[in-house]
Amino acid sequence: MSVAGSSDARAHDWWRSAVVYQIYIRSFADGDGDGNGDIAGLRSRLPYLAELGVDAIWINPWYPSPMADGGYDVADFRAIAPMFGTMDDAEALIHEAHEAGLGVLLDIVPNHTSDQHAWFRAALAAGPGSAERQRYIFRPGRGANGEEPPNDWHSVFGGEAWTQVKEPDGRPGEWYLHLFAPEQPDLNWNDPRTSQEFDDILRFWFDRGADGFRIDVAHSLIKQDDLPDLGDRFGLLPSLDHPHWDRDEVHDVYRRWRRVADSYDPPRIFVGEAWIDDPERMARYVRPDELHTTFNFVFLEAPWRADAMRDAVTRSLAEQGAVGAPVVWVLSNHDVARHASRFARDQRDVAGSNLDDLLGRPADLGAGLRRARAAALLMLALPGSVYLYQGEELGLPEVEDLPEDRLTDPTWRRSRQTVRGRDGCRVPIPWSGDAPPFGFSSDDVGSPWLPQPPSWSDHSVATLAADPDSILNLYRTALRLRRHHPALGDGTLRWLEAPGDALMFARQPGFACATNFASTPLELPDGARVLLASDPLTAHGAVPRDTTVWLEATH
Ligand code: GLC
Repeated sequence: MSVAGSSDARAHDWWRSAVVYQIYIRSFADGDGDGNGDIAGLRSRLPYLAELGVDAIWINPWYPSPMADGGYDVADFRAIAPMFGTMDDAEALIHEAHEAGLGVLLDIVPNHTSDQHAWFRAALAAGPGSAERQRYIFRPGRGANGEEPPNDWHSVFGGEAWTQVKEPDGRPGEWYLHLFAPEQPDLNWNDPRTSQEFDDILRFWFDRGADGFRIDVAHSLIKQDDLPDLGDRFGLLPSLDHPHWDRDEVHDVYRRWRRVADSYDPPRIFVGEAWIDDPERMARYVRPDELHTTFNFVFLEAPWRADAMRDAVTRSLAEQGAVGAPVVWVLSNHDVARHASRFARDQRDVAGSNLDDLLGRPADLGAGLRRARAAALLMLALPGSVYLYQGEELGLPEVEDLPEDRLTDPTWRRSRQTVRGRDGCRVPIPWSGDAPPFGFSSDDVGSPWLPQPPSWSDHSVATLAADPDSILNLYRTALRLRRHHPALGDGTLRWLEAPGDALMFARQPGFACATNFASTPLELPDGARVLLASDPLTAHGAVPRDTTVWLEATH
């Protein structure tokens, strides 16, 4: 198996083709019956993942955390949250995953800590001008008495990016920067102790067998020294020369991290989360001495239309290919509305990938599921690596109507209850049975931490496993074919001629993929043999609307 501990030569570039399954641990499987997913639950479901046919898992943060932002507010990077288990459980999980042939990627959050992290508590206690405060970004306020924030930056979750503290003597004092929630103070990456600390954290987990890390907001670490006002340049996607997104100096951090990862045998790997619109800027993160991969959000954000998908694929392959990196394709994750629901909307006026962009727009969930099946085969045929978000293999839709008193996303509170945020894609997985908690927790739990819709028995693993035509069995078959077919995974593609509302491409040796987005059925080339189709072909063997086929091709 191509994971840490293996001496197989393939081990060194397994990540170029890998299919990685994202585990949002609080919602995957609950082993101790408290309504929250945990490591025990995940361990019990490893056979499911091995059977699904993925190569590795990425586990969202499992560290001690007050959970102000779903665990992205980390209080201790070298421990496990009691809610999820113990360090022994974590080590056992890594070992068992490897035994099952699965690599294990963890999540590292270098931009900020929790406000309960020992460093931040020490910084508050030590007062202005102290070495402890240097670890974060503290500044005096503006205005006659420092009562206004130091600049006009906004938090991604709404409101100001600065919070004023009370000094140890009780008086209102300095302000600290938090690009996300106030419970997530930004670290100062100009302080050498920060780099040192993160080198050590990487080693801590690599020494315990982790095969790599997903890097949280990889493009945010460095801030322009003088912290200038933003004016109208606000947004998660950076403009050029933005004072806190995608600054050139961030690449020094990743060159350093790459040296740490490369000092292991086999080398450990990174995937960066960088919401960068410009494929050329994005490709800088995956230059040969930096990160191995970054998520391709250009693809995630493309509407279900031939022109948009083709453009996203072409641009991404060109820019990443120019620096020798494979593209990482992804349709969903724990931050965006599930794609079965995004694709259920009219695709001509796509306004964004968040739940709040979808609300109020009519949904056809049947069409969404059909497109999700077609999109899965399209994505799995593309050159490079793929990340699947737990539940997409079950065709789960976004839960758009969670009761307001159950919403936990900081966006909800920070927007004064106007933006619902990301809980709807984080609802616990339905495994079996006719009623909540659908085998996610023990039955006496009643409702898990987020309530599941009663209709989810139709989406449970047990229901779908028993149906040969289900989306789950489609993913299983596709992943098995992808693993064994010499044309799939890393490599290149060649576009084939196709009508305007269809995409067709060839991969060597002997493979082609066709997706029809139009209502007119797409005729296949003479003699093409169908390996797999996301839905049945027409009586005449043509590809109907919103369907992808994999073909054995001779040209
Ligand atoms: C990333 C995470 C997201 C989190 C944010 C702040 O975007 O994926 O869930 O809220 O970073 O850490």
